Amino acid sequence: MPVITCIDDLKAIYRRRVPRMFYDYAESGSYTEGTFRENCTDFQRIKLRQRVAVDMTGRTTESTMIGQKVAMPVALAPVGMTGMQCADGEIKAARAAKAFGVPFTLSTMSICSIEDVAEAVQAPFWFQLYVMRDQEFLEAIIERARRANCSALVLTLDLQILGQRHKDLKNGLSAPPRLTLPVLLDLATKWRWGIEMLRTKRRFFGNIVGHAKGVGDPSSLIAWTAEQFDPQLDWGKIARIRDLWGGKLILKGINDPEDARMAADFGADAIIVSNHGGRQLDGAVSSIRMLPEIVKAVGDRVEIHLDSGIRSGQDVLKALAMGAHATHIGRAFIYGLGAMGEAGVTRALEVIQKELDITMALCGERDVKALGRHNLLIPPDFLQAWA
Ligand SMILES: Cc1cc2nc3c(=O)[nH]c(=O)nc-3n(C[C@H](O)[C@H](O)[C@H](O)COP(=O)(O)O)c2cc1C
Repeated sequence: MPVITCIDDLKAIYRRRVPRMFYDYAESGSYTEGTFRENCTDFQRIKLRQRVAVDMTGRTTESTMIGQKVAMPVALAPVGMTGMQCADGEIKAARAAKAFGVPFTLSTMSICSIEDVAEAVQAPFWFQLYVMRDQEFLEAIIERARRANCSALVLTLDLQILGQRHKDLKNGLSAPPRLTLPVLLDLATKWRWGIEMLRTKRRFFGNIVGHAKGVGDPSSLIAWTAEQFDPQLDWGKIARIRDLWGGKLILKGINDPEDARMAADFGADAIIVSNHGGRQLDGAVSSIRMLPEIVKAVGDRVEIHLDSGIRSGQDVLKALAMGAHATHIGRAFIYGLGAMGEAGVTRALEVIQKELDITMALCGERDVKALGRHNLLIPPDFLQAWA
């Protein structure tokens, strides 16, 4: 067992073990990847205030997310095709999250279906919904999530049309991969992945194939998005989905104070400040940079979560201290999953929790819920509103 000290260690193993097509799918942003990079580099610009001679015993990372108790305020974000990063990946990640005590979010574009995860994990999880044109399919998938006992619906608002990722087009991304010569040559060095994938029956988009009608190419995420996602999604349609669902609703992909105000007026249980990990609007501002303006606009009216760019417990601490109530991680847990399956997701969560705990202590804090601006040194330009 290699010694894993940080998320980057998991990423290095992940890169060696998972086919290039799926590594590239995760490790990319749209177009120039500028927003993808800045999501991380902007976290580095925020500094922490070192405090000493403070009793640091009895520390806790426990908190809540939409009223649910969590071991730390870090949920696993919805990641499409997680079951291609590792066989039965969604089930493994959901199990790790359940054991750790943090929420797992299943993507609409998952490989394991809602029913697969519900049966294997036997605990409520969150379901992320992409809004489709096909009303019958939309209503049916909401009903399937309800029947599977999902405890929140995470409605993604920033991907009704796909931001282009050059690598996915060049690699011919599909689930399962088409066995072209370059893919076969790559798979020759990823034999462990191949053997596990041959052993599972879950190699297709489990929520879609067999459930949706008129799907042109069911293996292509890119084709599917273009054909099926509803480009007419607006606040009226969001209200209809809320009524159909009737449970806790989280709006994901808010990165502007004006949209945050509309989400708060709408009465969402939480919003996720996010630019989809830099995968959609290239040129958008990093979510950590937008957070202060959004907190100022709606911080007293709606629970604010943040994702995009979190790779450590220090990043989690910075987001919380900047005013987020909780955070979500995408790639950080995918690196763990691709590297070591369920144990790798657990390791990613352990690494982040330990970093959060130690950093909190060195900042002179004992409770994540007490973190605030007083823990940070923020560059002057960071807090200026964008013109
Ligand atoms: C490979 C990959 C696939 C994703 N698929 C989805 C998805 O199906 N639905 C969704 O709402 N967000 C999706 N996202 C976005 C994540 O939920 C999350 O917003 C993002 O990963 C956060 O940034 P981070 O990876 O820097 O933590 C995906 C992200 C990645 C990296």
